[in-house]
Amino acid sequence: MKITIFGTGYVGLVQGACMADLGHDVLCIDIDAEKIKKLNKGQIPFYEPGLSDLITRNTKQGRLQFSLDANKGIEFAQTIFIAVGTPQTTTDKQSPSGQADLSAVFTVAKVIGENMKEYKVIVNKSTVPPLTTQKVRRVIQENLNQKELKFSIVSNPEFLKEGSAVKDFLIPDRIVAGIEKDDKQAKKIMLKIYDSLVRADKPIMFTDTTTSETIKYAANAMLASKISFMNELSHYAEKTGANIKEIARGIGLDNRIGPRFLQAGCGYGGACFPKDIQSLIYEMKENNVDCEIMSAIESVNLRQKQSIIKKVNQIFPDLEGKKIGIWGLSFKPNTDDIREAPSKIIIKDLLEQGAEIKTFDPEAMDNFKTEFLTDPDFNGGADIVYCQNPYEVAKNIDLLILVTEWNAFKEIDMEKIKNSMQEANLIDCRNVYKPQEIKELGFNYVSIGRE
Ligand SMILES: NC(=O)c1ccc[n+]([C@@H]2O[C@H](COP(=O)([O-])OP(=O)(O)OC[C@H]3O[C@@H](n4cnc5c(N)ncnc54)[C@H](O)[C@@H]3O)[C@@H](O)[C@H]2O)c1
Repeated sequence: MKITIFGTGYVGLVQGACMADLGHDVLCIDIDAEKIKKLNKGQIPFYEPGLSDLITRNTKQGRLQFSLDANKGIEFAQTIFIAVGTPQTTTDKQSPSGQADLSAVFTVAKVIGENMKEYKVIVNKSTVPPLTTQKVRRVIQENLNQKELKFSIVSNPEFLKEGSAVKDFLIPDRIVAGIEKDDKQAKKIMLKIYDSLVRADKPIMFTDTTTSETIKYAANAMLASKISFMNELSHYAEKTGANIKEIARGIGLDNRIGPRFLQAGCGYGGACFPKDIQSLIYEMKENNVDCEIMSAIESVNLRQKQSIIKKVNQIFPDLEGKKIGIWGLSFKPNTDDIREAPSKIIIKDLLEQGAEIKTFDPEAMDNFKTEFLTDPDFNGGADIVYCQNPYEVAKNIDLLILVTEWNAFKEIDMEKIKNSMQEANLIDCRNVYKPQEIKELGFNYVSIGRE
């Protein structure tokens, strides 16, 4: 089938590459000229395991193309996906309302309406507040040149995770498609597009569009609540001497709970959980619905990021001139994405307190440098030293903080690390190391929710 995708970000590009690999003819459209230029030269604009091979193979075989030309995209296929960003509105940076900025989604809807000349199925893959798909229908309708043109509208949220996005897309737990009442045509097309991914135990689930949109928000809120639950409990475990890692295992073995998303750490980040939960809170408040649980998920998360600073200050009440090494900048391993990453809050605070920062991340340093360069509050990031490897970070530092649990920090000679440090203080924000072993090496070791 022919498919057009608007947006070549972490979702649109992965979807485009995977759908081409399944045999569809895919045209990806973006407004970012630099990105499209890179993609047309075979360069991948961000790091995602397995994506580069898929793109190379499918562009060579002619099933995957990239263009800036929206009109060409609309003509190209009957089915058009919208996979553009839906960040938080940033009109007031100091106290953002939490409301999702849907301008990119509506811009695409308008362009589709203006240029559509025959029946199309418009599928919204961006994460949006409930009722948005209906608004997308209205925007398209208002902009149609031929007012009588028929079109279908579908909500098809994406559940992939950065770092394992290709695998998640190709082996989804389920596919959710919200369609309008009695729209058999849209249902048939969605079944055809996803035919090779659907299995008996991994179904495509059809709902109405608003339920589909709400499933996505509910999934993110539920996963984030597991993380915040364990993070809050980790503070209690620290007081009583219980071990949060064993608590996670002990409850995770219960089928009713399951083992995933139970690791206490330094708070969730990324382009989804923070903004989607804030958007859900905003929407619930707008509808005069109490949102105590959602608000608690969010505030516990913020507190967790800040709690790492408290651990630092318990070791060094005065950070002026202290040399601190940070391992990991991305919001989680196997991605270069630093959106809402805990590393940002931690590093900014440490710099404000006068510390000197050295860091290494296998993939995210360029993104971090670029963001800090444009941040005048932090001297353009001039006070951060970016290192070639984890060993270089450790040289002559007073404290090492492991923020993101890349494999590069797990399989490492910790004795060598300890010997090169000025003072052997280690804060392990991801409970990667075994406390007994690491203490025997001579580290003053602090982790999360464990003695
Ligand atoms: N990143 C994730 O892990 C993830 C997972 C599931 C769902 N989502 C949701 O998917 C959506 C996309 O997320 P993302 O991380 O891929 O975003 P992104 O910021 O990485 O990419 C968005 C892309 O859309 C492009 N764009 C903006 N306006 C456009 C327009 N008018 N026409 C064409 N392209 C346009 C941008 O240039 C950019 O390349 C969001 O709603 C997000 O919440 C993201």
